[in-house]
Amino acid sequence: MRKINILPSLLAADLGRLADEIRRAEESEADALHIDIMDPHFVPNMSFGPSIVSLARKVSPSLYRNVHLMMSRPDLYVEAFVKAGAQTVQVHVEADCDIHDTLRRIRGLGAKCAIVLNPETPVERLVPYLDEIDEALVMTVHPGFGGQKFIAECLPKVTALHGWRPDLDVMIDGGGNAETIPQAAAAGANMFVAGSYLFGKSDMKEAVSDLRARCREVFGS
Ligand code: DX5
Ligand code: ZN
Repeated sequence: MRKINILPSLLAADLGRLADEIRRAEESEADALHIDIMDPHFVPNMSFGPSIVSLARKVSPSLYRNVHLMMSRPDLYVEAFVKAGAQTVQVHVEADCDIHDTLRRIRGLGAKCAIVLNPETPVERLVPYLDEIDEALVMTVHPGFGGQKFIAECLPKVTALHGWRPDLDVMIDGGGNAETIPQAAAAGANMFVAGSYLFGKSDMKEAVSDLRARCREVFGS
């Protein structure tokens, strides 16, 4: 049985109190921290670099670090991110690099690897990598910004991936909240990112536990 994972996305944290926000995510008993790395070639925005991953490791060493590279050339940076403390590294299938080689390098550095699909990318693009990945991430918004509306039309991709490899961890990212996350769970996802929804809560722990309970209800466990 795949484990339900709830991941607050640091992009939605109050950046003026970053260390406190990382601690708040840890104290919420979330399963991992989702850290969004953007370059302005791949998305129309910029965010963090490896130093923020190091900060998360320093502030909350036991909070698992899931690092989402929205980058055109993730191959040039995977080593820096793993050295900084990334434990899972997610690369987009749309990136301009040799994906097989990049996945191999991530594993060689001792981290887990995942592939990410943008909303407009057909799920079949992931087939050549299915046996090489620890998880798949289906974007449920166009990457680049937090706080966007969930695109439910992406969910059939989740169902296809779960059907092809039932043991694969399948994550959704973008627009996750108490209504949309159970929909994704029903489609076959077991890992759920929520940025603005969770960091916007005064009691993040209660919100994480509520999301987990809603997913368990869908899974019937
Ligand atoms: C989008 C990022 C997401 C984002 C999610 O580019 O990959 O992780 O932070 O934020 P919400 O949950 O607010 O849509
Ligand atoms: Zn993300």
